[in-house]
Amino acid sequence: MTDIRSILNQQQFSHSDLVRLLYSEGDDQQQLFKFAAEVKKKEVGNKVYFRGLIEYSNICSKDCFYCGVRLSNKNIQRYQLSDAEVLQAAQFAYDQGFASLVIQSGERYDKAFIKQIENLIIEIKKIGNGSLGLTLSCGEQSKETYKRWFNAGAHRYLLRIETSNQEHYKKIHPQNSKHDYVKRIQSLNHLKETGYQVGTGVMIGLPFQSIDDLANDLLFFQKLDIDMAGMGPYIEHKQTPLYQYSNELLSLKNRFLLSLKMVALLRILMKDINIAATTAMQAIDPEGREKAILVGANVIMPNLTPVKYREDYLLYEDKPCIDEEADECKNCLEARIHRTGNAIGHKEWGDSLHFKRKKPSF
Ligand code: 5AD
Ligand code: FES
Repeated sequence: MTDIRSILNQQQFSHSDLVRLLYSEGDDQQQLFKFAAEVKKKEVGNKVYFRGLIEYSNICSKDCFYCGVRLSNKNIQRYQLSDAEVLQAAQFAYDQGFASLVIQSGERYDKAFIKQIENLIIEIKKIGNGSLGLTLSCGEQSKETYKRWFNAGAHRYLLRIETSNQEHYKKIHPQNSKHDYVKRIQSLNHLKETGYQVGTGVMIGLPFQSIDDLANDLLFFQKLDIDMAGMGPYIEHKQTPLYQYSNELLSLKNRFLLSLKMVALLRILMKDINIAATTAMQAIDPEGREKAILVGANVIMPNLTPVKYREDYLLYEDKPCIDEEADECKNCLEARIHRTGNAIGHKEWGDSLHFKRKKPSF
């Protein structure tokens, strides 16, 4: 069998290479992590960028089978932050030297929502004369809406494909036009055409998902030529249909380990993209995000949602930091990142180098 180091040193990775690396254990696994750390240091440097996360609203018109804020979950209180609450969080981010924000929301398409997000973008861009970078994560929208929000000042967009296998996608979503794989891919293309830096990702350890699927997910990211990625372990939620498959899942520990391998492999495959160390990783392992940073992640999203709303934005169970105020979170995070040997990109947007290199220079 080919030795792991020579596989890692290849320029191209086949599906079977990726499968082999995803199955790696013991010394092979350590080599994978070490190699990914070297690639990160060389290609994007040992720096971590903060994106303050504002969970704007848990009102959602979709019914994904895995998600705790799905429309059919009647056990949560629905909320939407006021403009003042969003702007206060944005001002806090600016004052703390966070260079960027992420506005994440349940999916809605009504005019009021579209306008509200547009206004918020405009208001946020006024803080510090446009110095805050802005990422949106507000789901599938029309191309026109994507353009409106882009023109208002948002410049990055996250839309996870969740799984790149169309048959698998059907198993984890209801069968209707609101949950259509082809439309989701189309949305990713519209985002690209609009000019956003585009991020996507998958959940790892979902019911009905195989290692083969995960290897294909990595190749999918490469083919789509994404600029950013956010991936994390799937964590079951009692109020969702997929909960019934809980006893068929990998252990939480193994889902976590597989997520680390996905981060490491994506760093090796797409050397200069931005990769997030996601909150779901921390939900399984208190040091989960630091571990992701050590194997290739370079973005972290501290939660700035006002504490009183956090327990209503539980996409999955045991979500961490739901009772810590934003500044406490910030202090603990900074110390944790320094311990990984990474510096913090204070006041730097830390845009995807991959995106910058793609753009023609004038
Ligand atoms: N476990 C882990 N991640 C989840 N998400 C939604 N539900 C879960 C879950 N049960 C993720 C999805 C979505 C993002 C906002 O949260 O990938 O895109
Ligand atoms: Fe809201 Fe999936 S349940 S987008």
